[in-house]
Amino acid sequence: ASNAMWGGRFASGPAAIMEAINASIDFDRKLYAQDIRGSIAHCEMLAETGIIEEQDQEKIAHGLNTILKEIESGDFQFSKQLEDIHMNVEARLAELIGPAAGRLHTARSRNDQVAVDFRLWVKDEFHRVAEALKGLIEVFLTRAEEHAATVMPGFTHMQTAQPVTFGHHCMAYVEMFGRDLSRVRDAIERMDESPLGAAALAGTGFPIDRFRTARALGFREPTRNSLDSVSDRDFALEFLSIASICATHLSRLAEEIVIWSTPQFGFIRLSDSFSTGSSIMPQKKNPDAAELVRAKTGRVNGHLIGLLTVMKGLPLAYSKDMQEDKEAVFDAAETLDLMLAAMTGMVGDMTVNEQAMQKAAGSGYSTATDLADWLVRTLGLPFREAHHVTGRAVALAEGKKVGLEELTLEELQAIHPGITTDIFSVLSVQNSVKSRTSFGGTAPTEVRRQIDYWTKRIAKA
Ligand code: ARG
Repeated sequence: ASNAMWGGRFASGPAAIMEAINASIDFDRKLYAQDIRGSIAHCEMLAETGIIEEQDQEKIAHGLNTILKEIESGDFQFSKQLEDIHMNVEARLAELIGPAAGRLHTARSRNDQVAVDFRLWVKDEFHRVAEALKGLIEVFLTRAEEHAATVMPGFTHMQTAQPVTFGHHCMAYVEMFGRDLSRVRDAIERMDESPLGAAALAGTGFPIDRFRTARALGFREPTRNSLDSVSDRDFALEFLSIASICATHLSRLAEEIVIWSTPQFGFIRLSDSFSTGSSIMPQKKNPDAAELVRAKTGRVNGHLIGLLTVMKGLPLAYSKDMQEDKEAVFDAAETLDLMLAAMTGMVGDMTVNEQAMQKAAGSGYSTATDLADWLVRTLGLPFREAHHVTGRAVALAEGKKVGLEELTLEELQAIHPGITTDIFSVLSVQNSVKSRTSFGGTAPTEVRRQIDYWTKRIAKA
């Protein structure tokens, strides 16, 4: 049989394989609530502008609300023959209310319909991600407060570099997730325009009121160009790129958690609720959730590249290629939500081993820079020369297999005669950290200032 929507021009129906490649109902049914919301706003506007009769509008709205309930209670029969969510809903509307259903699609096309549905969905998801990010940031703020003065080794090249505090490390992630949050806010601002009323591509001759539908759907204003309205998927690309950056941050954190929780590091212990055991090795406690967060980043990044590639060759305006936007965004969204929730749980629950951190912070000559700085400050050496002198002290300590603070005053004076016992005060990791008071530095006083800043900022975010 030919199609109920466009059968006029068609003698026969699609091949089975055509239906298989064409149908999107298996995934775009996720848009049902947005589709119905959009249709209700559209038909109310049609009635208000006198384009359709009041009674038809009432029938349509009533029918759409019935369909919403049917879908939500699982009583709705989705049909692949009806291709997508838009035609599934409209066909059911015709069953429910008869010919009036045919008036709903006046001054509208599936092109602006799908654009508005998808924008509404992505906007809601952006808000979900914003809330999840705030939750994660709050957990980090709590951990940072607890550990503003807990010393750990800071690394570069994964080699011990200088002591930092665990609170400072936590606050580094707060900065990253804070930027993710601000990217989400920016993107919402940019995408907050309604494409409904662009119709197929050229607008319509009916006296529609796009400002009214935009307002009814919670958009700031209507989009300005009808061609762009139905061609644009930037909002989906922005979602995916923000999701990818955020996933990348989560993945770096996951990697650190994996490293920190090894018996060799022992900086943290994951709670039982966020680890798994081994079916053969009884001693094992594996950071599977962190590993999966790290791995799922690949999936999110893949979706970004996938949709960029779909879009890159598309002439204006709508092409069916754009139907491929949804699975990418839906899967990335579901994945990101899960990753954020898992990380929030893990970071909130993990036990921090302060002794192990402090011990590691003192090894690997992490205070060598402090020694060099002392030579500059106290003896007035140029930094390059101080670096050289310190290097000799490190080599000596290394040869004796001791720490810098375990060298004797005589040994140090043999390297540079100006050295006094005062130098030992800067060789402790505590004092090293305490001295780093430059703006944004790792001194506990600075870390507390950072925490203060974000506590205030997040309350308003
Ligand atoms: N299912 C389609 C999509 O997701 C809806 C728009 C179809 N429009 C069209 N002219 N074929 O893109």
